[in-house]
Amino acid sequence: MLIKTHRDGFIHPVASEITPQSVYRERRDMLRWLAGGGAGVALAGWAQRDARAQMVQRPGKLAALPAVRSNVDGAATMEKSTDYKDASTYNNFYEFGTDKSDPARLAGKFQPTPWTVEVEGLVRKPARYAIEDLLKLSAQEERIYRLRCVEGWSMVIPWIGYSLSKLIERVEPLGSAKYVEFHTAADPKTMPGLSASMLEWPYVEGLRMDEARHPLTLLAFGMYGEVLPNQNGAPLRLMTPWKYGFKSGKSIVRIRFTEKETRTSWTRSAPTEYGFFANVNPNVDHPRWSQATERRIGEDGLFAKRRKTLMFNGYESQVGQLYAGMDLRKFY
Ligand code: MTE
Repeated sequence: MLIKTHRDGFIHPVASEITPQSVYRERRDMLRWLAGGGAGVALAGWAQRDARAQMVQRPGKLAALPAVRSNVDGAATMEKSTDYKDASTYNNFYEFGTDKSDPARLAGKFQPTPWTVEVEGLVRKPARYAIEDLLKLSAQEERIYRLRCVEGWSMVIPWIGYSLSKLIERVEPLGSAKYVEFHTAADPKTMPGLSASMLEWPYVEGLRMDEARHPLTLLAFGMYGEVLPNQNGAPLRLMTPWKYGFKSGKSIVRIRFTEKETRTSWTRSAPTEYGFFANVNPNVDHPRWSQATERRIGEDGLFAKRRKTLMFNGYESQVGQLYAGMDLRKFY
């Protein structure tokens, strides 16, 4: 990708960065209370985002998306979440431009509703889902995940969604389905970045079937208690927390089950720099920079030090087994 990173020393998280237990409990109780309100608020939200924004008490500015706290261990649960403002104004979404501020500035005309997602390929029950039906397919959970970009920065974000496996079970993949492709929106009328040829559009990503079925792999509809802002991938995106951020495609329109490994947008454009797996790995450098450390967005003070990047972004105990016996230098 575009940005080169620095190569500062390592640092461990300091105690003041960890959310006190009491604050965390309070927050969790609030989410439970919100969940009691039912999914109706969330569904109405897609149609009336702006009107609702005036009425519902919440941290940001979009419609509330109630969720229960997930039992799936997010590994970053006790870390301080990145400020909503940073998470929604410092983005990679090349369909809207290459500058980090472009998506928040230029995604206003993008229409995340009405929206449908085609689920097709090697499945017994291919289907076309309206976003409202996808939202209802399973209970919404809040999961606090780290996002680590290949460029060397990271965030901690409370996402809302459910495991992609819920959708996969529903469509019944055939035995021959080995990979899952994610095709995202490409609308030249509302996405000014499409006029640049830095990538082949639409943006395409892929996962191996066992990765796609892993409970940590989240189909995300919201963040910070609200529906996703356009710049973060409204109305739905993928969130695969142990992989570099580029694996988590935004504004998905098609999910296809295949026999062959996906030729993703990044492996097509720069095969020597970006691999299919793209697992966060501090021991395997990008050809142009180290991946050993990262800058946490929001910790940009004069004396801010870089953090040590964790194997599989800190999710090694949950996902390491998926790669047992694989040479991770070769399969980067
Ligand atoms: N999805 C689409 N459709 N287009 C993109 O350019 N960028 C990826 C990923 N998903 C991208 C995308 C990259 S490089 C990163 S790091 C993350 O989105 C950034 O997600 P965020 O802006 O929510 O932090």
